[in-house]
Amino acid sequence: MVQLTLPKNSRMTVGKTWPKPDGAVNVRKVQIYRWSPDDGENPRLDTYFVDLDTCGPMVLDVLIKIKNEIDPTLTFRRSCREGICGSCAMNIDGQNTLACIYGLDEIRGDIRIYPLPHMPVIKDLVPDLTHFYEQHASIMPWLETKTNTPQKEWRQSIEDRKKLDGLYECVMCASCSTSCPSYWWNSDRYLGPAALLHAYRWIIDSRDEATGERLDELEDPFKLYRCHTIMNCAKTCPKGLNPAEAIAHIKKMMVERVA
Ligand code: SF4
Ligand code: FES
Repeated sequence: MVQLTLPKNSRMTVGKTWPKPDGAVNVRKVQIYRWSPDDGENPRLDTYFVDLDTCGPMVLDVLIKIKNEIDPTLTFRRSCREGICGSCAMNIDGQNTLACIYGLDEIRGDIRIYPLPHMPVIKDLVPDLTHFYEQHASIMPWLETKTNTPQKEWRQSIEDRKKLDGLYECVMCASCSTSCPSYWWNSDRYLGPAALLHAYRWIIDSRDEATGERLDELEDPFKLYRCHTIMNCAKTCPKGLNPAEAIAHIKKMMVERVA
């Protein structure tokens, strides 16, 4: 086993280095965070070598190849493989993103993969998103109405529908919230960019009849106002969305309604 050099006092332990594939010429070194709740060991970085000539073009292809052909104990989430389900979010090459739509050609040198930062880890690359989902549920991510339900459907003009563009596309991957320093330090009370983007999506839905209640709920020094416009959320979002802008719109609505 090759020994990795780790920083002094690191809580990470030396990981295992797997052998290079025989006869492969286009090999990439991949280092992956490993931790299991079952063995009582500290986290470690394992090193794998992947033959890119027999691998798909995305980081998720690398992970699937490692799991199928090298180390079946490697644990990660994935489902759709096309950036729709949001389940394969992780930290790749220092950036939170979706492994299934992050191309290997975007990474220079070795590939380093960690779970989403500042979240409890269930195992390896799988973070515990329970609190993140509870925060999403707290903003009432559904249509709230008071008038009688129409016979056919709640109608919306084309212009009003367009206001939801840039919001409805969110796949709840948590890349934005887990890249936000305010969320790292205050996630117990600050809702974070993803939940607030969804809050705004329902606040401006022309069919919704609970705008006042929604804003009342967010009028809180932590839930909304811990956003300091750091913009990591917009920089990292793999769907190209801008949660910081949505948060700024909510803050503006707060000011306008008391003016
Ligand atoms: S806004 Fe982007 S980064 Fe944040 S949860 Fe939605 S898709 Fe993921
Ligand atoms: S596997 Fe669904 S978003 Fe990556």
